[in-house]
Amino acid sequence: MNIGIDKIGFYAPHLYVDMNNLALARNVEPAKFTIGIGQEKMSIAPITQDPVTLAANAALEILDEQDKEKIDFVIFGTESGIDNSKSAGVYVHGLLGLNPHARSVELKQACYGATAAIQMAKGHVALNPESKVLVLASDIARYGLNTSGESTQGAGAVALVISADPKILALEDKSAYLTDDIMDFWRPIYSDKAFVDGKFSNEQYILFFQKVWESYKSKSGLGLADFEAICYHLPYTKMGLKALRTVLEQGTEKDQERLVENYQISTTYNRNVGNIYTGSLYLSLLSLLELNENLQAGSRIGLFSYGSGAVGEFFTGILQPNYREHLHVDYHKQLFDTRTEVSVPEYEEIFEKTLPIDGSTVEFDIDSDPATICLSGMKDNMRLYINKHN
Ligand code: CAA
Repeated sequence: MNIGIDKIGFYAPHLYVDMNNLALARNVEPAKFTIGIGQEKMSIAPITQDPVTLAANAALEILDEQDKEKIDFVIFGTESGIDNSKSAGVYVHGLLGLNPHARSVELKQACYGATAAIQMAKGHVALNPESKVLVLASDIARYGLNTSGESTQGAGAVALVISADPKILALEDKSAYLTDDIMDFWRPIYSDKAFVDGKFSNEQYILFFQKVWESYKSKSGLGLADFEAICYHLPYTKMGLKALRTVLEQGTEKDQERLVENYQISTTYNRNVGNIYTGSLYLSLLSLLELNENLQAGSRIGLFSYGSGAVGEFFTGILQPNYREHLHVDYHKQLFDTRTEVSVPEYEEIFEKTLPIDGSTVEFDIDSDPATICLSGMKDNMRLYINKHN
């Protein structure tokens, strides 16, 4: 039985800051951010968007009534979950009005969470072929103002429906994974900003890629020639390229050209959104699928997932016939085209806004946020959400 990605949706908040302006404000050459890091725009989440609303908005666009009935498992991958007890999946389940006879949980392993969710979903569908699983990958990446990680922040979510006979990408069973207990990036429970050893994280990302790629090759007997494209977890768009370059010589000139060209296409959305942690790999896949109109059904796509701390995995999928008909290209184009630029001081003000932690009541101006699902306020230490369509 084929199991894989049946639907894929994406949402980013409507605000962004231009990386050239951020560079100037930080006394950095703009080319460092736009070329050295490879980022052009950074999504900014207003106070009315959090990982729950971003995920719910991403899912809203792709689910029909039949999906809502058939989804019996919601798995929410996130690094920036909003509650230490209640899963973000339960909130989204409620906001979307899904079939109550469902499991809803949250998975955490930095940027690897959504990949674990997809593998878990695959197992669930293998045992229950009629079921559909909603996998949510949603994060707001925060390092802090004026930090070296600042240029690699971002906000957004990807929603995936995993099912049997998927319309977009059938996931293959061969996969290679690796865990090593390292401190390259972490976020203690008391901090809303990540701690990172930047250089070490870059080195470990590449090392993990090399190890899982070698392991995958020996498990599968496949090599670069068997791949139309390889998508990467993209904390910033230069990162995946650094990893890809370390294995390119294993392929012919033609393989190298194809993989580098598709790599560039796969980074377009990420370049304009920033790091969305666990959703980044799937945003890159979406970018490739929506922006390369020449991909052929039957092509194999590699996926490298990396979650600091660290867990890495290399796995693959096969593009399905007529997959393009099941993408939401126009919707995503509109999402990007209608965003609003904010200045660096405006971004800084938004960044510093926090929710009350003393149980007080606040109400937010949701009219200034075009998203359908918003955080409308807080009361008694509870987040209040609203679906404007209800
Ligand atoms: N023109 C063009 N390029 C320039 C330039 C200019 N004027 N000035 C500098 N550059 C280049 C540098 O040469 C460098 O390129 P290479 O890496 O190819 O050598 C690049 O710009 C970045 O410069 P620095 O290394 O000096 O940048 P930095 O030390 O200030 O910060 C960073 C870079 C370490 C990635 C930092 O942004 C960071 O810590 N980010 C967060 C951590 C992260 O994203 N790690 C990635 C792996 S971990 C992971 O993947 C999990 C996750 O999501 C967090």
